[in-house]
Amino acid sequence: MNVLILGAGGREYSIGLALSKDENVEKIYFAPGNGGTDTLGENLSISDFSELADFVEKNAVDLTIVGPEGPLVDGIVDVFEARGLTIFGPSAKAAQLEGSKIFMKNFLARHNVPTAKYIETNSLQDAYTFIEKLDVPIVVKADGLCGGKGVIIAQSKEEAKKAAGEMLSGNSFGDAGTSIVVEEFLDGYELSVFAICDGNDYIVLPAAQDHKRLLNNDKGPNTGGMGAYAPTPLVNDEIYKKLDERVIVPTLEGMKAEGMPFKGVLFIGVMVVKGEPIILEYNVRFGDPECEELMPLLKSPASELFYKAATADLKSAKIEFYDKYAVGVVMASRDYPYKSSAPAEIIIDDIYHEELNENAHISYAGVTRGDEGKLYATGGRVLVCVGIGDSIKEAQRHAYMLVGQIHYAGKQCRTDIAYQVL
Ligand code: AMP
Ligand code: GLY
Repeated sequence: MNVLILGAGGREYSIGLALSKDENVEKIYFAPGNGGTDTLGENLSISDFSELADFVEKNAVDLTIVGPEGPLVDGIVDVFEARGLTIFGPSAKAAQLEGSKIFMKNFLARHNVPTAKYIETNSLQDAYTFIEKLDVPIVVKADGLCGGKGVIIAQSKEEAKKAAGEMLSGNSFGDAGTSIVVEEFLDGYELSVFAICDGNDYIVLPAAQDHKRLLNNDKGPNTGGMGAYAPTPLVNDEIYKKLDERVIVPTLEGMKAEGMPFKGVLFIGVMVVKGEPIILEYNVRFGDPECEELMPLLKSPASELFYKAATADLKSAKIEFYDKYAVGVVMASRDYPYKSSAPAEIIIDDIYHEELNENAHISYAGVTRGDEGKLYATGGRVLVCVGIGDSIKEAQRHAYMLVGQIHYAGKQCRTDIAYQVL
């Protein structure tokens, strides 16, 4: 089959890499892709949904996979399905689970899915009253999509009030902040859990842990994610069972009952507090960098997972994972996440080490290919070094061996990915 992947990150590269090893897949297109995806397939510079659908019809693309949330919230799935095209991802209505934190929180409340105590409001006075009732730290969130930056964890009531005031005035996040959620702080460990859904059935992937802060020991500012590993031994069968019964089933049943059956990736941001999984948020797409670790663990053909999910046929899929671990280390550019950095040429040493060639690879993200074929670091998160191993420690060693082979001016990465379990 021919596949189109929408997006430009390491997430989309890793999906493409998995599909490129799948004998059922002939041709892969990326829109727009990046300077690395051009070795896996063809990059297209089309972004208009109708033009993309035209391309899919003309070029016999059998399946479109949407990487990021933006086009999902903007309704690309609705446009494609109206034209009878097969696409993996939720409708615009279902994508509100990520597109609006207020929709998500109210949905969780309607369906009794455990989540932090909260109010949603557009009144500063109501926000102040609720803040007075909470213990610190206090979490203040803008309603709409803010590229992962719309969450403030305030260490004092004054700071919480200031954040609420700035969001509601539209000063910090524009329209995305005209309504806010104020909620209690949950103290525990965070998981990224992914359910691949087809509207009726679902498959839960091995749980991962992300590293959101820029610096080692979870210091520094929040980022899109500086590294991840999977599966995490912090999840046992009991937690998976609770997630299933209390979270995934009521969510998918609730979405169906409310007339927006969920198809695509349900990304469940979980905080485990004293052994109880509590939902922080939903996203409607794969995590980045979590996807980069999950794709190489997939033993079954990637096309089977995505095509069957997109065509409501997951029931007939037999999806298996390797009994291995993956660790992904994000290499970022000099000024990430504060501002963009000057392009820097990337030099990768030839790797003669067989152990490394077999057990590590790069997932390219913020890279651009120059006219002379050279690669340049041009984005915030430049690439992810993914190591595979029989233990987390071995996977981590492979990932960092690969990091050592990659050079560009201003490269930065954390040196402690997977520290939680080592
Ligand atoms: P969100 O965009 O809602 O996932 O929030 C971004 C990050 O802020 C999460 O990944 C958590 O690390 C943190 N966070 C959000 N809400 C809470 C909460 N209620 N308690 C503790 N940490 C939180
Ligand atoms: N890695 C977290 C995210 O993709 O939102």
